Amino acid sequence: MTNETETTTPPTPTDAWRAALSSRRTQVANPGAIPAAAVSAMDADVSRRTFIRTSFWGGLSVSLLGSVGMLLDFLYPRNVRGFGGPVPAGNVRDFVRGGEPKAFSEGQFWMANLDPTESRPGGSRGAEGLIALWRKCPHLGCTVPWLSGFEYEGDKGWFRCPCHGSTYTKSGIRVFGPAPRSMDTMKIEIDGAGNITVQTGSITPGGPDNPTRATKI
Ligand code: FES
Repeated sequence: MTNETETTTPPTPTDAWRAALSSRRTQVANPGAIPAAAVSAMDADVSRRTFIRTSFWGGLSVSLLGSVGMLLDFLYPRNVRGFGGPVPAGNVRDFVRGGEPKAFSEGQFWMANLDPTESRPGGSRGAEGLIALWRKCPHLGCTVPWLSGFEYEGDKGWFRCPCHGSTYTKSGIRVFGPAPRSMDTMKIEIDGAGNITVQTGSITPGGPDNPTRATKI
């Protein structure tokens, strides 16, 4: 009588490792393919390079945008005062009709209240109202003064450039000298209370129509 007792031997650690390895191999469709661990490492490397490249270009773009923004912010005209922007020129009550032109150095202009009845050669030439004349001579840019005592062709009171002698009437019409045109004019604004603002950035080249640019008050 044979005692056939079946005994089951528990797998050793080595057998378990082999079984796991065998199972792993069956999951790989192509045994010649790159091992999963190697693929993961490659993916990580590509991901890192992408991250570094993206960070570099992103940082560079932000820096450039910031620099451009600061430049635009610096160049943007705000609260412009003096020449190039609006300059207060008092009230209409301050200007006597037919009186002497007044200088506004902040805005680089002369302001006159022209009297259409002032018929002398250096006068208004029929113009009526306020006119703002840029003091810069259209010839080579010298500052043109109003000279009440300067006499030209038997009449006193002209704009006369000290550099080359260009001479202008009270409304800025050129009558003598090398200047290529009459004195330039600036835009005038008057509010409801009679306060005057001259837009010194709004300049029109002078011409024979200067008298028609006067603003009646
Ligand atoms: S700059 Fe005024 S005449 Fe030459």
